[in-house]
Amino acid sequence: MNTVTEIPVPASDSKQAQEIYLQHVSILANQVYKSRALDNEFYKLWMKEKLNPTQLEIFADNYYHWIAPTVDRLAMTFVATKDLISRIEILHNIRDELGGGHLDGVHIFVLRRWLDGLLTKNAGHPFKNVDPSTTVLLPATSALTTKSLELCVRSAPCANGAILAQEWHAYTQFVMLYEGFRQYMQAYELDEFHDLCEYLYIHIGWAEKEHKEQSIITAVRSCANDQDLAELEYGYNTFIDLLGDFWDQLHKEIVAH
Ligand SMILES: [Fe+2]
Ligand SMILES: [Fe+2]
Repeated sequence: MNTVTEIPVPASDSKQAQEIYLQHVSILANQVYKSRALDNEFYKLWMKEKLNPTQLEIFADNYYHWIAPTVDRLAMTFVATKDLISRIEILHNIRDELGGGHLDGVHIFVLRRWLDGLLTKNAGHPFKNVDPSTTVLLPATSALTTKSLELCVRSAPCANGAILAQEWHAYTQFVMLYEGFRQYMQAYELDEFHDLCEYLYIHIGWAEKEHKEQSIITAVRSCANDQDLAELEYGYNTFIDLLGDFWDQLHKEIVAH
């Protein structure tokens, strides 16, 4: 089980209650590793064999469109969360996603550069389908995008439960995406390949490790009573199920092509 750092507790809540919620949140966060969000057929396929051009296009379209609203999810959670210490943690995450205020470092642009490089060398054209209104997406992709945003406005515990799921599945997701992408290394100059991996490296190197810690703090601080904890678990489990459905449906679509 991954360890979590000690967190400051809200002055109004007892230390004992917060320690109990920290235990619950830590157990919940670690459930991600055995969930369909990470333990699924897509990642097994992605890491075992190279996809054909059509399969890569399906992956790129659907992956891009579920990642695109990441800042929206965080911003909605920021609004739903009134606790100031939690707001500061969410702000750190939003700042990372927006490249620390530098346009060329905004994660969604860095992602687009990776998908461009992946498709240009392996499907014969750059990644183009950035407009959700004109991109054919799988139903599970649309559901993940829409319903995850709904979770982030429902209540502070629900929103922070959803963000807990988003951040705790992310590190391992990037590790597996990187491992699979290494199979395509021969298509690139060595420097070019590692430059394209920027999207994967920034997350594996530090971003997602920090986001995991931040999401533990905000999840615990959003629980003032057991009803909040139940709401947090609802947000977390619903997001995990949406992610599992996304990867399962993406896998089925890919093997059909
Ligand atoms: Fe990111
Ligand atoms: Fe993150």
